[in-house]
Amino acid sequence: MADPLHTLGPAFQAAIAAAYGPEHAGADPALRRSDRADYQANVALGLRKQLGGAPRDIAQKIVEHLDLRGVAERVEVAGAGFINVTLDAGFLARAVSEVARDPRLGIQAGEPETVAIDYSSPNVAKEMHVGHVRSTILGDALARVLEAVGDRVIRQNHLGDWGTPFGMLLEHLVDDGGSAPKPPVDDGGSEPSVGDLNTFYQEARRKFDSDPAFADRARRRVVLLQGGDEATLALWQRFVAESRRYLASVYAKLGVTLRDSDIVGESFYNPLLPSVLAELVEKGLARESDGALCVFPPGFTGREGEPLPLIVRKQDGGYGYATTDLAAVRYRAGTLGARRLVYVVGSPQSQHLAMVFKVAELAGWLGDGGSRAEHVAFGSILGADKKMFKTRAGETVRLVDLLDEAVQRARDVIAEKNPDLDAVTREDVARAVGIGAVKYADLSNDRIKDYVFDWARMLAFEGNTAPYLQYAHARIRSIFRRADQAVPAADALVIAAPAERVLALAILGFGEVVHEVAETLQPHRLCTYLYGLSAAFSTFYEQCPVLKAKTEEERASRLALCDLTARVIARGLDLLGIEAPPQM
Ligand code: ARG
Repeated sequence: MADPLHTLGPAFQAAIAAAYGPEHAGADPALRRSDRADYQANVALGLRKQLGGAPRDIAQKIVEHLDLRGVAERVEVAGAGFINVTLDAGFLARAVSEVARDPRLGIQAGEPETVAIDYSSPNVAKEMHVGHVRSTILGDALARVLEAVGDRVIRQNHLGDWGTPFGMLLEHLVDDGGSAPKPPVDDGGSEPSVGDLNTFYQEARRKFDSDPAFADRARRRVVLLQGGDEATLALWQRFVAESRRYLASVYAKLGVTLRDSDIVGESFYNPLLPSVLAELVEKGLARESDGALCVFPPGFTGREGEPLPLIVRKQDGGYGYATTDLAAVRYRAGTLGARRLVYVVGSPQSQHLAMVFKVAELAGWLGDGGSRAEHVAFGSILGADKKMFKTRAGETVRLVDLLDEAVQRARDVIAEKNPDLDAVTREDVARAVGIGAVKYADLSNDRIKDYVFDWARMLAFEGNTAPYLQYAHARIRSIFRRADQAVPAADALVIAAPAERVLALAILGFGEVVHEVAETLQPHRLCTYLYGLSAAFSTFYEQCPVLKAKTEEERASRLALCDLTARVIARGLDLLGIEAPPQM
């Protein structure tokens, strides 16, 4: 119960019930942190409609019934009817030491839920593009946050490993090596070689577009693949295996929690598709249209107002992206038992996912108090010219190159900032800062917006950046190295100076913000919080001498606050998938 909101909330509800009757006991006190006092309750303004009268009078009556002895030092009605609460210093100190002793740092375990989270989800035989990069970074942070609040998280890397493009890819593979086709990639080297595979894809595409005989063979190859022809499947396996190796190396470099076993590719759903279709037909949802089998979910119309189909079986009898996604919903909700289905996918697929969710709801796989699906949409990464992020040569940026450049740039920045670091530490720090900067730039922006990729800004030691937070953390750790002292016990905290108060309140807000991210699936809220916490720490460190504190108690208390701040920053960064080196 470290978070003061957990004490204030029920106290307000009791006061509302005492003042206006038990039927209002459930009213939301609308409490939030405030600059005017420590907390502000806006409940009186909210109740005006129901109760009538002036909000100030309502506020006054609630305050008269409010019992905050030992919790608040001052409660007053202000402005249009706000209730300002200033906490008792002793209560505040006890709350902070509770967080300090809590290994979860105040993140309360919520009602555990099984969550399936679909993220990264790149395509075989293709380089990951920036959309996959964003999905990987955002999804990984969200998976960590959901686990932190106690959910059972099932990662689903919905790898694009099936479908018509494989016809041309496999046929090109056969052409390339004759009767004994050699793989398009060099198996001997340790470096991932999907870069070559990318070229391979483009070559196959070119041939498909210009050579009708090849296109014909490619189409027949798709039929062979879907029919389970063994030689064809063996060829296909090569692509998939190579891609999985490549992905494992990218995920390791990026430091994300995705494992090979989290890959549940599109091909996995193949055997399930006929029964998905049968169920849709049986429930009267799918019908024939122009030779294809379609579902027309209500509420989706095209430009001329015509109903939009979700095609579940194409004219040629094949299944597509939508059918697979429907099978995935049924599998995640039904077989895996996920109550919450999270899709970290770019905004261009909003309509596709909305239609899939709607059809799944009509089929009874979602909704009705059972499982629910959420699209965690995100915008694009733009270049300095505000257009799609590209290399100077106009090509898509390879993720691996991007990460290598980030680490190289971080190396330069760190060498300049702290020339005394030994080589090994500097390398570790450069990796943490470089990768952290790229991730944080992605996470700190409201995900739905596009953002401009800017090396200088993301690697800056000032502003809302990873290096700023990592540096704040390392600087606190250095206090302990200088003090040559262990962290004092956190049971004798004194929260007296205004800057101590602000820092204490910031620390107490950690659990709440983590829950907020778990609920809204917006990691930037945690970034904003950590930035604010670091700013509160800076002010505290300027205004409150720590090692030169006036008394032993004050010194011990302030050292404990320093340590706790560092732990919260490190844990917060960890939830974002970012490392916090102890020194930099
Ligand atoms: N592979 C897809 C793409 O590259 C993304 C898949 C997203 N997940 C899903 N269940 N549709 O666009």
